[in-house]
Amino acid sequence: MTNLRGKRVILGVTGGIACYKSADLASKLAQQGAQVDVILTSAAEQFITPTCFSAVTGRQTWTDRDMYAPDVTGAFPHIALARAADVVIIAPITANTLAKLANGLADNLLTTTVLATRAPLILAPAMETHMWEHPATQANVQTLRARGAHVVGPELGHLASGATGIGRMAEPTTLLEAIRYVLGQNGPLRGYKVLITAGATREPIDPVRFITNPSSGKMGVALAAAARDAGATTVLVHGPINVPVPYGVRTVPVTTAQEMLDAVLAEVEDTDVFIAAAAVADFRPTRQAAQKLKKDVVGPTWTLTLERTPDILGTVGHLRQEGHRPYVVVGFAAETQNLIAAAQEKLTRKGLDLIVANDITAPDAGFAVDTNRVTVIEREGTITPWPTLPKDVVAERLMVQIIDRLRKMGILKAESDDTLTSE
Ligand code: C5P
Repeated sequence: MTNLRGKRVILGVTGGIACYKSADLASKLAQQGAQVDVILTSAAEQFITPTCFSAVTGRQTWTDRDMYAPDVTGAFPHIALARAADVVIIAPITANTLAKLANGLADNLLTTTVLATRAPLILAPAMETHMWEHPATQANVQTLRARGAHVVGPELGHLASGATGIGRMAEPTTLLEAIRYVLGQNGPLRGYKVLITAGATREPIDPVRFITNPSSGKMGVALAAAARDAGATTVLVHGPINVPVPYGVRTVPVTTAQEMLDAVLAEVEDTDVFIAAAAVADFRPTRQAAQKLKKDVVGPTWTLTLERTPDILGTVGHLRQEGHRPYVVVGFAAETQNLIAAAQEKLTRKGLDLIVANDITAPDAGFAVDTNRVTVIEREGTITPWPTLPKDVVAERLMVQIIDRLRKMGILKAESDDTLTSE
């Protein structure tokens, strides 16, 4: 479960055709445990019905017809909704509603609620390119940004008019991520920096060939999302990966182990927590050919001479042992045999606080699958096997454990607003 669980989310929907995707967003929010109150403008009702949203949220969908109907306590909906909200997102938001909000107008249930709430505001504009680029719209967006609104998109692509241009609403998955990011701003790791490595590295043989492994980057990306959800300033140094990087995470793309080490060393000085989830290639060719090696020139067999790549995690672990940051260093151990013993040996040799061991021969663990079955070993000696879990749940649990450790070390204050939940 993410930091959306139990959160009150107001989803405002205005009159643009992208609102057919808002039902998907509402559904995704509900599936992650949020209580979603959808408010439709009358223009949105021209495109989509309240029933559609109520069916996916399991809650009343609000329209302008509810505006003057107080609840049993006498509170009008805009006040009750505004008070309860943890976050407000308007997706899609039209040029018209942007203009209203920029000017503080409150002429329908949605704009009245936005004016009445102090919850953070996320806006996902969707409109024709000319409307988006109009100086009036741009000025309104500037005003709203200056007041603290998070503007996500619009994106480039196919528009309902048939044209291609900027103006598409950001995808529901991106918006979901943006909501998690904004909710995370009050999390326990606010003001702390988490640095994560992810994915495989590629060690070139020649311009078209390289040594690598099947790491997808999923585990590291899930960890970055969990750190972001906990409020951390999150930096993801990643090799070539085939999963999207999380919204609100700063990314540093690299290719080789040496580049990954350089990127990590450039970031590590003010890092509080370092997590090495990358499957770094352990060896690289001693020499990289400048031109493609021709098979007829190389001959029927070919001996490649390899050398060790730098140990990124070991380097950071030793820096810490010398009294430098980060405060917490976490590694992964992917093994095919003697899992626990090998992981314990790595924990000691690399100077770690915690190592996450996984047996990559298991079909539900390791490379490129969505689940992982790990055993968490701490430097104090505790060994805890976890059940098979989705990688994002492994990431969230790990983050809870890291936060606990930071608290025990006295680095994190105990009283911070903990919005991260563990199962
Ligand atoms: O490859 P190995 O089993 O030693 O990996 C253990 C841990 O060390 C992992 O967390 C991995 O990300 C990290 N590592 C690294 N640099 C390397 C090799 C591994 O940071 N060159």
